[in-house]
Order: sequence, then C-alpha cells, then structure tokens
Amino acid sequence: MRFYFLFLHIIFVHFFQPQIYAEKELVSSEHKIAVIGTGYVGLTAGACLAEFGNYVICCDIDEKKIKFLNEGGIPIFEKGLKELIDKNLALHRLEFTTDISQAIQNSEVILICVPTPMGQDGAADLSIVKSAVKTVAENLNNDKILLFKSTMPLGSIKRIQKLIQKQKKSAFNVEIAYLPEFLKEGTAVQDFFEPERIIIGTESKRLHQVIYDILAPLRIKNVPFCFTSFESAEIIKQASNSFLAVKISFINEIANLCDKTGADVREVAKGIGLDSRIGPEFLKPGPGYGGSCFPKDTHALLYEAQQLGVDLKVIQAAIEANDRQSKIVLEKLLKVLNSSIKDKTIAILGLAFKANTDDIRDSSAILIVNELLKRDAIIKAYDPIAMKNARKVLPQLVYCTSAEEAMYGADAVMILTEWEEFQKIDWSAVCNLMKTPIVIDARNILPIQMLRDLGFLYENIGCSHATGSDYE
Ligand code: UDX
Repeated sequence: MRFYFLFLHIIFVHFFQPQIYAEKELVSSEHKIAVIGTGYVGLTAGACLAEFGNYVICCDIDEKKIKFLNEGGIPIFEKGLKELIDKNLALHRLEFTTDISQAIQNSEVILICVPTPMGQDGAADLSIVKSAVKTVAENLNNDKILLFKSTMPLGSIKRIQKLIQKQKKSAFNVEIAYLPEFLKEGTAVQDFFEPERIIIGTESKRLHQVIYDILAPLRIKNVPFCFTSFESAEIIKQASNSFLAVKISFINEIANLCDKTGADVREVAKGIGLDSRIGPEFLKPGPGYGGSCFPKDTHALLYEAQQLGVDLKVIQAAIEANDRQSKIVLEKLLKVLNSSIKDKTIAILGLAFKANTDDIRDSSAILIVNELLKRDAIIKAYDPIAMKNARKVLPQLVYCTSAEEAMYGADAVMILTEWEEFQKIDWSAVCNLMKTPIVIDARNILPIQMLRDLGFLYENIGCSHATGSDYE
C-alpha cells in the first residue's frame, strides 16, 4: 500500500505539480505600469492591466478628466469599465494622476496611449506621441520599457527610438515594443480580455517575457502572441483596419447595386459571408464607416504608401466609396421629399458613429446632419447617449429626450445609428405622430414589411425591394 501511495506521489509531482508552477509563472508578476493618455484605449488598457494584477498609474494632462476619474466618474461610455475601475481603485492597483513625470519615475513599464490624429494631408500627427516620449526621456531614473499602443505610422517606431537616444540625458536603457490596439468601442473591455491575437513589434528578446508577464492571463487562455519587426507591427495595425474598411465599402457598393436590381443585400451578405474565406462579419451596409480609426488609418496608410512610391488603389477606392455613401443616404431622403428640404423637420435617430458608444468622431450621422442644415432643414435629434458630445459640435439642433419626441410632427425620420432601442419603437403609434410617415433606415434595422403595411414610405440600404415577410 505504501508503495502505491509513493507511486501516486511521484506521478503527482512529476505530472501535475510542474503544470501548477508553470501556471503560477504565467500569473501576472505585478509590474508597475504608467499609462500615458486616458482616452478609450488608455483607460481601458489601464483598468484591464490592473485587473490582471499589475499596479497601474493612469496619467493625462487633462486636469478636469483626472479630477473626474478620481471622484469616481468615467469620462467615456464603455460597458463594464466603471465596475473594473471601481474594483481596482479599491484594491489600490489603479490610480489617476496628472503628474506624468512622477508616474514615469515610479514605473518600470510605460504604455503610450495618446492620440495620433489625422493631419491635413492625411498623415498621422505624431506631435502628442513625441511630447509624451520626451517626458519619458527626461524622467529616466532607471532602465525602462516603453510600449506603444497609440497607432504608429510606418517607420515611426524606429524614428522614435532614435529620438529617445538623442533626448535622454542618462545612460539608462529604454527598450521599446509596439503593441497595436484592436479594441472596438462599446466592447473594449471584452475585447481586451478576449483578444484574437496580440501583435508585438520589438527588437528586444528580453521584452518577450515581460510582455508575457504583463498579459499573463491571456497566455493561459492560449491567445496567440505574434512577435514581429517594428515595421510589420506598424503595417498589421493599419492594414487590419484598412481591410475592414474595404469590406464595408464593398458591401455598401453591393447594397447600392441591390437597390437597382431588386436583390436584398441581407440575403446577398449572408450568401457570400457563408464562404469561410470571406466570413460573415463586417458585411452590414450603412451610411458609411466612421469612428476614430477607420477614416484615420485608411488615410494614413494611403499617405505613407504614397511617400514610399506605392499606389494603394483598393484603399483609395474604399475611401472614395465611403465618402460617397453618406451622400447616397441623403439622396434617398431628397428623392422622397421631392428635393425640398428647406424648413422641413427631419427627425434624426442616432448620432454616434455606431451603436453602444457615445463617440461621434467621424460619424456619418454628423456628416448627414450638416448637409441637412446647409439645406435649411430643422433637425430634431435623439441618441441614447451621444447627445452630450453632439451638442458640442452641433448646438443648433433640437435635442429630444426620446425617439418619439424627435419624430413628433416630423416630415421624415432618418435612422443613422443601429441602436437596439430603435427596433423596439411602437411604429404603429409613430405613424400618427409624424406629419408625413417617411422613414429612411440607413442601418437596415426595422421590419420592412411591417412598416410598409402601416403605411410608411420606407427606404433602406440595399433591401428596398424586399418583398413578402420580413427577413429572418
Ligand atoms: C475599429 C476596429 O474594429 C478595431 O479593431 C480598432 O481597434 C479600432 O477601429 P471601432 O472604431 O470601435 O473599431 O468600430 P467598428 O465596430 O470596427 O466599426 C467601425 C465603423 O464601421 C462604424 O462606423 C460602423 O458602423 C461601421 N460598420 C461596421 C459598418 O458600417 N458595417 C459593418 O458591417 C461593420
């Protein structure tokens, strides 16, 4: 019997114990991380890295924002983020400060998450990144690891590397990696915890282990970690977003074709998306893609390629098709109103660039509203959460507290963001609220036949000719 237990013990130690230790090694090793920039990317990354067990100091030059965060506020709408921040603040694994120098000195890893906005010529503007890097170079009190999450244009990491060498006044070493971000707004927390891949552009082998440590729970989940050159990581980020932008422009053009032929783009998208080489995602037509990434990254990649003498015709075409798409939506409205928009009341449902976010950056809805205003329309707008941001750029709109209020007395309604709550509207009641029952559904979210049966003049993108029962 004793031999039997000894045998079991040996089996346990040799086969199970090492695995436990291996997993232990994978649990985050509590690195001290300073996150510079508390926008969508920085705030999400900071909170999630703290959740992984790291000590994170999130910093920003915006005093109002940091004060708000320290008082328990969340400056952006992002599902699950508040709970994560509250929890990690209570555990003292997360703090917010405007003292960037102190945060750098107190950390071994610095994560750059500041914006790289689009300059006038389409090139990414690196001035904010350069200023953050300068602050890092000026505050080296030991060796540091500098990780970039900001979208970095082609060749920029090597240029930044040289800049740091020039700017630093001490012999301390700065090792660099670029970890491009693939978070989607609205699902950023979930995307951080369940990424499809982690791309790491670096020249330092030592950094591999540090990155494994910082993101240890993702290694346990077998998320692929792909180590690449700086240049490959730079292209992967911009090419990923550009590819998705191409996919959307493609389906938008196919939708416009469907409208001329009697085909239903939803059937077409399903039919082509079932080919695993194409896939079903990002095949929803709409008023054109927007947001902080696709418009900026496609333009930046185009510009950078042009500088290198490479002509990216497909991306150029995707940009042109996208610029045209919001105009096509507007034309649908003009057509049903016999081109007379002056003094007409148009209800706008949705201002955000997509659902589940309060972000209106490069939103097609904002473009369309501006075009309507130029034509002297009266706009009554409603968005569940983006109105606060919209008010800053479009103060002249009549903002409503509900979709129904926006549609009351309107000559037409345009659905420009695919908020779920718009699908739950009682359209039979709305029919009597509106001056004329006209709906332009630029996100294809409403039941076509039901609206037509109720007497609406209903238009959408690519399934205007759908007949019979509503598509399942
Ligand atoms: C995008 C990328 O998906 C993400 O990986 C990257 O990190 C940042 O940019 P995001 O900008 O949050 O994320 O939005 P996304 O969900 O990708 O949508 C972008 C735009 O495309 C939105 O305007 C959306 O409405 C539009 N879109 C998306 C479509 O019109 N049709 C689709 O099928 C999908």
